[in-house]
Amino acid sequence: MAGRIPQTFIDELLARTDIVEVVGSRVQLKKAGREWKAPCPFHNEKTPSFWVSPDKQFYHCFGCGAHGTALGFLMEHDRLPFPEAVEELASRIGMEVPRDESRGGNRPQDDLHGLLGEVTQFYREALRESTPARDYLDSRGISSESRVRFAIGYAPDAWDALLRRFGGNPEAVQRLAEAGLVIERSGGREAGHYDRFRDRIMFPIRDIRGRTVGFGGRTLGAGEPKYLNSPETPLFHKGRELYGLYEARQSLRQIDRLLVVEGYVDVVRLAQAGIQYAVATLGTATTTEHLSRLFRVTNELVFCFDGDRAGRTAAWRALENALPHARDGRQLRFLFLPDGQDPDSLVGEEGREAFEARLAHAVPLSEFLVGQLASQVDLSSVDGRARLAELARPLLARVPEGVYRALLLERLAEGVRMPANRLQDLLGAASPGTAGRGERKRRSDSASLAGRKPLLTQAITLVLHHPGAAAAVADPGPLRGSGLRGGDVLVELIEMARSEPGLSTARLVERWRERPEGARLAELAATESLVGNDSRAAAELARAVERLLSESGPQRRLDELIEASRERRLSPEEQLEFQALLNQGQRRGR
Ligand code: UTP
Ligand code: MN
Repeated sequence: MAGRIPQTFIDELLARTDIVEVVGSRVQLKKAGREWKAPCPFHNEKTPSFWVSPDKQFYHCFGCGAHGTALGFLMEHDRLPFPEAVEELASRIGMEVPRDESRGGNRPQDDLHGLLGEVTQFYREALRESTPARDYLDSRGISSESRVRFAIGYAPDAWDALLRRFGGNPEAVQRLAEAGLVIERSGGREAGHYDRFRDRIMFPIRDIRGRTVGFGGRTLGAGEPKYLNSPETPLFHKGRELYGLYEARQSLRQIDRLLVVEGYVDVVRLAQAGIQYAVATLGTATTTEHLSRLFRVTNELVFCFDGDRAGRTAAWRALENALPHARDGRQLRFLFLPDGQDPDSLVGEEGREAFEARLAHAVPLSEFLVGQLASQVDLSSVDGRARLAELARPLLARVPEGVYRALLLERLAEGVRMPANRLQDLLGAASPGTAGRGERKRRSDSASLAGRKPLLTQAITLVLHHPGAAAAVADPGPLRGSGLRGGDVLVELIEMARSEPGLSTARLVERWRERPEGARLAELAATESLVGNDSRAAAELARAVERLLSESGPQRRLDELIEASRERRLSPEEQLEFQALLNQGQRRGR
């Protein structure tokens, strides 16, 4: 197996690559000022909202939120795994990709992805060897093609199946724990670990590149909990992953719509029936992160829920999270299934065509919204209508300004049989385009800038956008270990940027790819720069760092005094200092 690609090589590769050329070879770019633009290759649109910045060596779509470096672009656009995207870039400019064999970095257990991949295979082998597990899948009507397509496996009925196979030494056990596959025994006389998944059908959850990042495991019969998922790990975030999305992208060239269902088995059985565009959340509500992901792949979503009360509640939650993503050209609909049925049972009974016919009758978001609101008030009374406006106001405010919101308002007015302009009056400040809303927004923005975390985020964003600005700041070292969340990240970013003048945003971001903060930093790099030029950025950054430093000092002293007061009585001087620090903190509004 090939070893890891050294980070220094990736860095150099990016330094010698021009993202405009890379993207330009696949997308027809037009020059627009300093930057380049095109209709976004990741979602359907007519007017271009996809931008490529030669300065930052970064791309960003204002429509769907896609963003990244030249490497990230190749991974997303050509659907290449990371090492192959690196190969592709390197071959463009005639560089040879070195492999780092020295640090033992080539053993797959050394990285969690490799380990999870091996465990996936291990579970698949175990399935072949377990008659009860195979019988169970037979009883659920899951075909052998589906077992392969979804890499379904079985976790043996033992406390140490993985430990014996993959936990040869303490570090290996540690990695198993980090991957969420084994659990440390708490208390008791026996030290050590045990397998998390035992005697369960295993559904690997794969990321968009097909790498296993976690598992869902189902009991074969009764037994609680019915489904057990991997815990949050550096690779696995329940609120972000979607079961089946990788498989859907593998089998469909173009995804015209996606069906969001609740269960693993639903996804598998739908695909088996020929509906290959179903995905499931992992036992959580549909988050706004899910929605960003989904809309990067398609413009049409159908949420599928039980027709019962719980299903409607879950649907409403999905609707609330979907509102910020509702915009022109996108379609969001809801399908409610007959009581007691789920997609698995329905498609089993009636087959693909009948199920797809149901999809055609899914309820549009606007209709579901109006229906739910109308059912809560008495529309025949003036009070009822005012109440309806009250209910609608916060919801409409979450929809981005534009055609979609205007249509939603119209639809709502129609639903309550009221002229749109009267409803708009009732909605007051929340209605599109009024001064009230703009003002409120500005106020809340400036309020958030005064807060502690946003200041840090701001500083981090500045370094990402203008790495050159880092040269101008005071030594941020004291922020390290100051307890300020993200303080360490800022210090490290500043140090990286300082040690190498001319570092691009892209190279800075790529250095964090494999780290937990990587995705967040890439997101910040893709936000619009509020500060136009480098010298202003340097001044802003210096100011932000100074403020963070001046706040972190007193905070640390305060923590020290609190700590001391637990052990002994503070001296009168210390008590005075303590009081002063507290007052200072209050004035700053903490
Ligand atoms: P359901 O309980 O609705 O079951 O869980 P299902 O999908 O119909 O399961 P089968 O058909 O009995 O196998 C729906 C989803 O909710 C999550 C899982 O992701 C499951 O697929 N879930 C459910 C859990 O995470 N934990 C549980 O204990 C139950
Ligand atoms: Mn089911």
